[in-house]
Amino acid sequence: MKGSPPAAAGAAPFPGAAPAEIEKAGRLALEEATSVAALEEATRLLLGRRSQLSLLHQELGKLPADERKGAGRLLNETRSRLEQIVAARRSELEEAERAERLFADRLELTEVTPQPLSGHLHLVTQVRERLEDVFVGMGYEIAEGPEVETDWYNFQALNIPLDHPARDSSDTFFVRVPGGADAYLLRTHTSPVQIHLLERGRLPIYAVAPGQVYRRDTPDATHLPVFHQIEGLVVDRGVSFGDLAGTIETFVHAIFGTGVSTRLRPGYFPFTEPSAEFEITCQICGGGGCRTCSGTGWIELGGCGMVNPPVFEATGVDPEEWSGFAFGFGIDRLAIMRHGIADLRAFVENDVRFLRQF
Ligand code: DAH
Repeated sequence: MKGSPPAAAGAAPFPGAAPAEIEKAGRLALEEATSVAALEEATRLLLGRRSQLSLLHQELGKLPADERKGAGRLLNETRSRLEQIVAARRSELEEAERAERLFADRLELTEVTPQPLSGHLHLVTQVRERLEDVFVGMGYEIAEGPEVETDWYNFQALNIPLDHPARDSSDTFFVRVPGGADAYLLRTHTSPVQIHLLERGRLPIYAVAPGQVYRRDTPDATHLPVFHQIEGLVVDRGVSFGDLAGTIETFVHAIFGTGVSTRLRPGYFPFTEPSAEFEITCQICGGGGCRTCSGTGWIELGGCGMVNPPVFEATGVDPEEWSGFAFGFGIDRLAIMRHGIADLRAFVENDVRFLRQF
């Protein structure tokens, strides 16, 4: 045709865009279609009745007869290649859309139940239970006594004389019970459980009694007005001080490990004779000496001794036939030693960030 640009080698002289260019642009358009609908639109523009390809077809008749055949084949081949691409792209897009639909239609069947923050036993309770386990393992029974006691159980029967500083009203919480015959008080130690056990009259006795005790103390790093003790009482025939020392060593090793040493130092308690204070290697410095142990390398854990005959007499047990030992110490103190806690008050402040660590 006159005025047409020179045709590429072997290509028919088409007016406007040549089939090769139409195909190139068409492939791109089909690839860029990202949905079936977009693909359909692109296909209509590319292969539809009014597309460039169709227009070229209509104009085949205007070509000289000898060129018409070759040009017609070129157009048909171009169209069929583009149709193949359309088909391939359509199945690709249909598959993607199907997957998307399935994903959107899926049912979320997982039942989501809100998870309440679950708690756990307080460190003091954990240590108490550990102590109970250790003593049960040694054949002891777990005993309990009332927290509201009379003067007899808390003091008199334990041979605590009237002028003993522990009886000072500044240490003891008294309880006024209307019509109560005796003066009631909150037990200041677990030792009155010894009296209940001895009064029961079932011998021999191998018992520990853990529980809460009360003293009129202002809370500070090493004191709480309500704290926990565990009392031990063994009464049998021929019980010796050596048995006491061995028992203390056994349970300290069970709680702290065998690397920890124990020692007994002479002490004074009215209900034991002789009495001792038992100490363990300081858990903060490992025995080298530090502020916590005042440079001694030792930390006092509790008191102990051989049951004093007046205690047996007060409870009707024959001291000629029976002998025994007793011990008592603070569970809270043991817990802070065991875990290197600086201030006892952390136990009662209910700060979960502290409690959660144990
Ligand atoms: N009851 C004593 C206190 O609270 C501790 C104690 C010392 C208990 C010696 C005992 C013992 O059984 O033998 O300080």
